[in-house]
Amino acid sequence: MSYIEQYNDWCENPDEFWLTQSKQIAWYREPESSLNAGPASSPNWFADGEINTCHLALDHHVQQGRGEQIALIYDSPVTSKVEEYSFSRLLELTSRFSGVLRDLGVSKGDTVIIYMPMIPQAAIAMLACARLGAIHSVVFGGFAGPELASRIKDAEPKVILTASCGIEVDRIIPYMPMVREALSLVEKTVDATVVFQRSEHQELLVGESELDWQTLANDALPAECVPVNSSDPLYILYTSGTTGKPKGVVRDNGGHAVALNYSLTNIFGVDRGDVFWSASDVGWVVGHSYIVYGPLIRGCTSIFYEGKPVNTPDSGAFWRVVEQHSVNVLFSAPTAFRAIRREDPEGRRISEHDLSSLRHVFAAGERLDPTTITWMQEKIGVPVVDNWWQTETGWPIAANPVGIQELAVKPGSATVPSVGYRIEILSDQGNRLAANQQGKIALKLPLPPGCMTTIWRDDRRFNEAYLSEFPGYYCSGDGGYIDEDGYLFVMGRVDDVINIAGHRLSTGDLEEIISKHDSIAECAVVAAFDELKGEIPIGFVVLKEGEIDGDVCKSLVSLVRKELGAIACYKQTFVVSRLPKTRSGKILRKTLKMMLNDQAVTVPPTIDDPSVLDEIAKVIAEFSHS
Ligand code: COA
Ligand code: AMP
Repeated sequence: MSYIEQYNDWCENPDEFWLTQSKQIAWYREPESSLNAGPASSPNWFADGEINTCHLALDHHVQQGRGEQIALIYDSPVTSKVEEYSFSRLLELTSRFSGVLRDLGVSKGDTVIIYMPMIPQAAIAMLACARLGAIHSVVFGGFAGPELASRIKDAEPKVILTASCGIEVDRIIPYMPMVREALSLVEKTVDATVVFQRSEHQELLVGESELDWQTLANDALPAECVPVNSSDPLYILYTSGTTGKPKGVVRDNGGHAVALNYSLTNIFGVDRGDVFWSASDVGWVVGHSYIVYGPLIRGCTSIFYEGKPVNTPDSGAFWRVVEQHSVNVLFSAPTAFRAIRREDPEGRRISEHDLSSLRHVFAAGERLDPTTITWMQEKIGVPVVDNWWQTETGWPIAANPVGIQELAVKPGSATVPSVGYRIEILSDQGNRLAANQQGKIALKLPLPPGCMTTIWRDDRRFNEAYLSEFPGYYCSGDGGYIDEDGYLFVMGRVDDVINIAGHRLSTGDLEEIISKHDSIAECAVVAAFDELKGEIPIGFVVLKEGEIDGDVCKSLVSLVRKELGAIACYKQTFVVSRLPKTRSGKILRKTLKMMLNDQAVTVPPTIDDPSVLDEIAKVIAEFSHS
């Protein structure tokens, strides 16, 4: 069946299409309906189905005789370790750790925060929660204590699971100081913090609630899977919105499993036994969908990589892993490939390795610019698939569906809508735009299985943030166009979300942090183009009267690292006497962004005082020439 045939098949009978897909996975109780009659804004997929996601990812494979197949390969250049875990072994470790959680009082519907580096225990923690029907929320290890605190506050976990440290190339990052700081910032306490002690750094545990992972695991009896309803939440994953408060994206069990299984076969073109490698982190959605749940549900071997594309030890790291583990599909962020290209433009290290196992390379998380995709295709020598999606959708909204049919590539385009998504380009007024006209990218409701069902305990915010701008549509927050052949070009965010090296952050969050500094009267943070990381944040600040420049810029860098984390890559501040504003007092961030990125600036008619722009232009010019 061609892509267009499958797409039309779905359009004509979406319920039947998804019900057929649902039969590809093992339910406790098979659903008889796919989408129930609820409102399109909050679909309840496979409502009468009963399932357990950990069972699908582990027990099912063992029951089917695939227990000895390798489920997970931990490859850690930062510790010089490579470890293989079969489905049986992973099941044994997971069910035992589920027993630990159960003994700590965690049960179906409880929340658990996981704040861990890229070690196999992170996957075990996620699966162990899923096994009990508990809802996990993984927080990226690069977030500082206060960011962790805001997630603890919102998710109200019973237990926190963490490790003694992360390792950034050759730097040990102790986690417990950040966990303790976070807990000191929230009013509610947790029953326990379970710490996996790594040999690279052992933490002295204090008090009755800090517990040693291994001691508990040694004593626990395995726990069985708890059946849950299809629509029960599997996890919450916080992502940045336009304000400082992160949004807790809620994902269900049934729709999620069906969608991931579908996408691995039809979009990524992988089958049981294939080796799938997402070089990302469990703290991001890619890590949830395509390091842990997707590949395991599909019965693939997933690579769990604790390293970087460069510096661990060099720009040949990816190609070493592909060769050593016979990787069939590699998935990472465009930034990773730009970092490799910067160090190895000729692709010499690529040619030092046998990449014959590799069928496709996928890239997502930010725009894959034509220069990078062209370089990748030429040097790696396999088709490169740009795919566009978000934490909210959990799987690609648009891609080249190589598992169905490999379509021609147009550099700069994420290719075509995935089956299940109806993509339209709308004007600010909500009118549908014609081919090649740029506008806001919207998805017609209902969203397919696997997409977010709501914001954790905040249906109202879900509606306001995504569904209210264009009734009947989900508003993606991205802008772009569809060309005459139906190819989608995603050009960037239309809101104040910033994408740094494939990491999504909110300029609002950064502004809130900068405003906390005693010397700052007001500030605006905007994204500047960066050749390696796509975007980086730049601050424009106005000092309080009587304050002098002094070390403010330096202390803002430290403040952002302490409050948000080093991944914000906040390095540059411009001190100005005033910020450009509208007559009603709104800061003109878009104008600042255009000036910063050398784009032609049309002075907005609503500006209060156009002369403000002269000083800003001067400050930027002085910086560019310095
Ligand atoms: N824990 C603690 N700190 C972390 C961290 C983590 N998990 N991840 C990153 N950081 C720190 C880094 O050490 C760095 O600190 P520094 O400023 O003190 O050097 C800072 O955050 C910025 O990190 P990063 O964006 O990784 O920049 P880098 O210059 O160290 O590396 C790349 C550049 C291109 C190698 C890196 O950005 C990369 O691997 N990008 C791919 C991104 C990706 O996979 N995204 C997943 C989404 S799909
Ligand atoms: P996240 O939720 O962190 O995965 O970030 C999602 C955002 O990353 C999207 O809204 C886009 O702005 C951007 N993005 C992801 N994939 C792509 C892509 N293939 N092309 C362009 N932008 C992308």
